[in-house]
Amino acid sequence: MQPLQVVSTSDGSSSVYNPVFDGYYHSRHGAIQESEHVFMAAGLNQLLLQQKHINVLEIGFGTGLNALLTYYHARQNGVVIHYTSLEKFPLDESVYTELNYAAQLQLGEEGQRFFLDLHKEKWNTEVSLRPDFILHKRQMDIQDFSAPEQFELIYFDAFAPTAQPELWSDAVFVAMYHALRPGGILVTYCAKGEVKRAMKRAGFTLEALPGPPGKREMTRALKIL
Ligand SMILES: C[S@@+](CC[C@H](N)C(=O)[O-])C[C@H]1O[C@@H](n2cnc3c(N)ncnc32)[C@H](O)[C@@H]1O
Repeated sequence: MQPLQVVSTSDGSSSVYNPVFDGYYHSRHGAIQESEHVFMAAGLNQLLLQQKHINVLEIGFGTGLNALLTYYHARQNGVVIHYTSLEKFPLDESVYTELNYAAQLQLGEEGQRFFLDLHKEKWNTEVSLRPDFILHKRQMDIQDFSAPEQFELIYFDAFAPTAQPELWSDAVFVAMYHALRPGGILVTYCAKGEVKRAMKRAGFTLEALPGPPGKREMTRALKIL
């Protein structure tokens, strides 16, 4: 198997290229910029002022960038995060130690330590990584996931539907809808017609939002009360 490649994106932050899926883990126009726009601004920030405890489900742990940003956004607002993330192919240490997120975000040594802790922490066990950040990384296939009404927020961050159409299926979105509490939000960078139709069939109400640089549109999907 060809090795994963660490690459640099336009905002100076790293990303990873996976030759098996011919997919980048983030937008080439800026990894941090995309994550801030799609998952923080359109997702997490919508809930931070309303709730003191948020249960987040991430589809694709990957580089841990979304987890890192979530912790710092929530901490600034005094919000406790319970972070569950699904990943079938965890990154090797040789890859995640090459990623420059803590430095780019000017999080200092403490931020770098938190980032490495995110990766080094055990899989398939719930741990209190920090008093206000409970982490549960689950090494599994997204297609095998089901959970009844546990989460307020889902970051749907799989590789593109052209690379992995099976992860953007009716069955997966039904499981996502089921996993959300009423009033919950799912955000994704994807705005493909086929994907939006699958989300609607699963029961979601959709909002089309402006995408991050390089992308016209993104999607926010709501589980209306
Ligand atoms: C776009 S990347 C995720 C980026 C990540 N959220 C981040 O902040 O770096 C997609 C991720 O989905 C993972 N993946 C691919 N197929 C999967 C599957 N069937 N089940 C679970 N994870 C899968 C990949 O290994 C990769 O880490």
